[in-house]
Amino acid sequence: MKKTILVTGGAGFIGSHLCEMYIAEGYNVVCVDNLVSGNLNNLSEIIKHPAFTFVQGDIRDRELMMQIFQAYKPNEINHHAAQKSVAYSVENPSYDLDINLVGLMTILDCVKAHPIENFIYVSSGGALSKKIEGNEKSSETDTPQLISPYALTKFTGEKYIEMYAAQYGYDFTVVRYANIYGPRQVPDGECGVIPIFLNNILAEKPSVLMTYPDMPNGCTRDYVYVGDVVEINKLASQKPANTVVNVGTGEEIAILDIYKEILTVFEKDVAIFIEAPRAGDVRRSVLDAQRAEDLLGWKSKVTLHEGLTKLRAHLEVRK
Ligand SMILES: NC(=O)c1ccc[n+]([C@@H]2O[C@H](COP(=O)([O-])OP(=O)(O)OC[C@H]3O[C@@H](n4cnc5c(N)ncnc54)[C@H](O)[C@@H]3O)[C@@H](O)[C@H]2O)c1
Repeated sequence: MKKTILVTGGAGFIGSHLCEMYIAEGYNVVCVDNLVSGNLNNLSEIIKHPAFTFVQGDIRDRELMMQIFQAYKPNEINHHAAQKSVAYSVENPSYDLDINLVGLMTILDCVKAHPIENFIYVSSGGALSKKIEGNEKSSETDTPQLISPYALTKFTGEKYIEMYAAQYGYDFTVVRYANIYGPRQVPDGECGVIPIFLNNILAEKPSVLMTYPDMPNGCTRDYVYVGDVVEINKLASQKPANTVVNVGTGEEIAILDIYKEILTVFEKDVAIFIEAPRAGDVRRSVLDAQRAEDLLGWKSKVTLHEGLTKLRAHLEVRK
């Protein structure tokens, strides 16, 4: 029998790629999204598919969520809806708490009433990074720095998912993403540096780089192409890890080097200016994803150069 998956935030950048994957894998897909940052255009390939249902609504709407669970009886949940910006969480911690934890708790209350088999919960390996030194990489067992409300809500969400797994009888995987990029990403939020730079570069406008005196090339990050992220979600649906797994490439790259790589791939030459850093940002982030390989057989395949080249091809087709 066909399985049904509820994808929250499925009209967003990553969620829309996941909805397409689940349809291709033969699932019935129910997507709930309030379109605060998502867009129905992201779902244009599948919106009319008979196995796809879109519900416009808020994950904090208890009545609506209970109705969705009652009507569609999902076997699985893939929870991507979130307040996703570190900077916004610093300015608006109550909103961050409301979406990322009250919203999650609403879903968990539905799961209590309508048991499911599998829960995929998205967290942030970048925001939950420890203070890395030298050639270290963040691992799932490190103590995170927790220097932003977003980091706190994502980390607490992980604990709720783990805590209720045995009680509510579901398997789970917490996927801790590094920084994700690819088609459909819009320039805002936690990880918009590639689309922000790209928009500026294509408009021939200079960008700004936030630097520290000891890090003149800016913060460092680990960049994963969205196709690799789709793959780990597919694997987590097939064989849950029942733990937290990092989703990263293990390659640490400074923001200035990302800028230069975009210039190379898009064959442009536009200036960048230096600015002071923002509150809440982790300075260095690179993830050790060995556990994802051991438990799920997942390893990132797409290099930054290849990913940016795919992104350029995608944008040229859309012109
Ligand atoms: N993009 C990254 O690099 C990255 C890194 C780490 C973690 N994440 C996490 O991945 C998930 C998806 O991020 P994304 O980059 O695709 O962002 P996105 O903004 O494109 O997707 C989030 C989706 O959730 C929806 N949404 C937000 N609040 C909602 C609510 N209250 N009810 C229903 N829908 C709601 C939005 O409309 C949007 O479609 C988020 O949980 C984010 O924290 C992303």
